[in-house]
Parts: sequence; C-alpha cells; structure tokens
Amino acid sequence: MKAVVYDRYGPPEVQRLEEVEKPVPKEDEVLIKVHATTVNRLDVHTREANRRSGLAMTLLSRSISGLRGPRQRILGTEFAGEVEAVGAAVSEFAVGDNVFGNSGFRFGAHAEFMCMRESARIAHMPAGMSFEEAAPITDGALNALTCLTPADLRKGRTILIYGASGSCGTAGVQLARSFGADITAVCNTKNLELVRSLGADRVIDYTQEDFTKNGQTYDVIFDAVGKHSFRRSRASLNPSGIYLPTDGLENLWWALLTPRIGGKKVVFQIPPRQTKQDVLFIKGLVEAGKYRPVIDRTYPIEDVVEATRYVETEQKTGNVVITV
Ligand SMILES: NC(=O)c1ccc[n+]([C@@H]2O[C@H](COP(=O)([O-])OP(=O)(O)OC[C@H]3O[C@@H](n4cnc5c(N)ncnc54)[C@H](OP(=O)(O)O)[C@@H]3O)[C@@H](O)[C@H]2O)c1
Repeated sequence: MKAVVYDRYGPPEVQRLEEVEKPVPKEDEVLIKVHATTVNRLDVHTREANRRSGLAMTLLSRSISGLRGPRQRILGTEFAGEVEAVGAAVSEFAVGDNVFGNSGFRFGAHAEFMCMRESARIAHMPAGMSFEEAAPITDGALNALTCLTPADLRKGRTILIYGASGSCGTAGVQLARSFGADITAVCNTKNLELVRSLGADRVIDYTQEDFTKNGQTYDVIFDAVGKHSFRRSRASLNPSGIYLPTDGLENLWWALLTPRIGGKKVVFQIPPRQTKQDVLFIKGLVEAGKYRPVIDRTYPIEDVVEATRYVETEQKTGNVVITV
C-alpha cells in the first residue's frame, strides 16, 4: 500500500510517499481503508521531536516515539474510512462500515490502510457526513474535552478561550457552548465572525485589545493554543478560577503547586486520558448539531509536505484535511 513515511526527526521534508506492507488486523482489530486523515499538531510535534519546546520536551518526546529515530514510521492520528476486514473477535464493526476516530500515539493514518482495536477510539461515522468532514472530528475536540472536563462548565460559569480559531480552540468554543457556559473568545480579526458563529457570546480581537488589561474576570481561562500563560492571565481569573493550558512544561509545575496553595489554580492532565466513550460523546454532539469540525484547507496525500508546512505556520483556522 501507499503511505507517508519518515525515518528521522526533522523538518516536513523528511516525509515521503513509499510503498509499504499492508497491515493485517489482529483478532480484536479492524482494517480500515483510509479515505481522509489530517495533519495536526501532534503529527508536527512528534515528527520534529518537539525541538521548538526545549531540550526537556525533546527528550520526553523521543522517549515516547523512539530515542534515536521514530519507531512508528507512519504519522497521522485522525482518520475516516471504510472497514475492509475485521478480526475474528470483532463484533461492533463489519466490512463496509464507515468509521472515524483517532489512533493517538499509535499514529498510522497517513496511509491507504491502518488497523485499529475495536475497543480503541473508533466509531461509526455520523450519518450524512463525508469522509473529509469526519476525519477532523476528533483531534481538537478530544484535546479540548480533556482540558475542559475538570472545569465543571455549566450555565452561570464564565470562560475565556484564548486562541479560539485553532483546532482545539474552535472545538473548545463549541464544547463550552454545549455545556451552557458564558463564553468570551479571543482570536485574530479575520476569525471573529467564525468564532462568534460557533457560539461565543463575546469576541475579543487580540490584535486590538489585551484581555488581561480590560478589568474583566472569568471562572475559567482556557489557553487553547499554548500562547498565553498562567502568570500573565492570573489577574483575569476569579478568586477560585481555573487556568487550563494545552502545553508547556512549566504548566506541569503550576498544576502540581497551585492546588496545594489554594485559590486560583492550573489544571493540566498529563498524559491525557481519551477514550472511545469520549469519541462517542463527541459523535453525539455532531449528530445533535452542536459540534462541527472547522476545515481550513484540504490537500491530497501527495502534498503532505506542503500541508505540513502550512500547519507549522500555526495560523490554520480549525483543521487541515488530507485525502487519501
Ligand atoms: N493537536 C494535537 O494533537 C496537540 C498535541 C499536543 C499539543 N497540542 C497543543 O494544543 C494546542 C492547540 O493546538 P491546535 O492544533 O489547536 O493549534 P492550531 O490549530 O495550530 O492553532 C492555530 C490557531 O492559533 C491561532 N494563533 C496563533 N498564534 C496565536 C496567538 N499568539 N494568540 C492567539 N491565537 C493565535 C491562529 O490564528 P491567528 O494566528 O490567525 O490568530 C490559528 O487559528 C497547542 O498548544 C498545541 O501545542 C496539540
């Protein structure tokens, strides 16, 4: 089969299309013919071994993906496709079913075929969706859900979402809306209308206004893009407010320290625990019309390097889809 492979950590150009062996499903696995996948920040961070985030993160990243070089040659976490074959013990899926999901650190979706355990993050596709629409459902939504769950969002709770135009941000706005929270979203001028249409009650253009200086405070601040900090946004939190980061090693220390001190705290779940139940929950939101993944650009798999370069600008709006 055709797959995008890489054999060393480095820039987008280390990826190339190659003929590789088609995987064979184990007893509890399904073989999926992938029709669409994405390039997301986990692909990017893993492929470059987190070199932009400092030596500690690089070592952590390599300890997960392979110290000398990548153990898994094929990237890609999100997928939408068709079940091609099932293992003997599989009961939930049958040949011909349309499925979507997320393989996380097992990757493998930048290929014509991939295997997933039946019990992993895979589900039947919501009715009426194309493969291109279904592939980007999970990345931003699972990451946002992991971060937002401890914040107990509901009617009457206020949240500020910083970086509301990315994959995690656009999902975060829609999830917070579905929980009934009052949402202030911060993004660039060009995305104000989009973010409003996703359910933000208020939008702040970060090129015009610094939310830390307007005197407003919130129960929750969610840095959906990893560009802010607890230190800078602390004064904008209510007395028992919660700060939710998406990355940054220093946030680990804050998350250990702040609950012991009391008052404002950082909550950061590492490693993230994301389950099949979470995928089914998000699928339910899609079917109820409460969540839709935002798609910025779509590239054919042959253009994966170009797609990756675009993701690395850190300026995509929502998600970048790859058709296979
Ligand atoms: N996706 C994953 O699997 C994964 C894995 C590990 C960690 N993470 C972390 O999760 C976070 C979100 O990832 P993502 O995939 O959602 O990001 P993303 O989609 O790449 O974020 C891009 C968006 O962020 C906005 N942005 C860029 N710089 C900004 C700034 N200074 N202030 C406000 N907005 C800014 C951009 O809009 P404008 O520039 O146009 O404003 C763009 O819309 C990151 O911290 C990432 O490191 C993600």
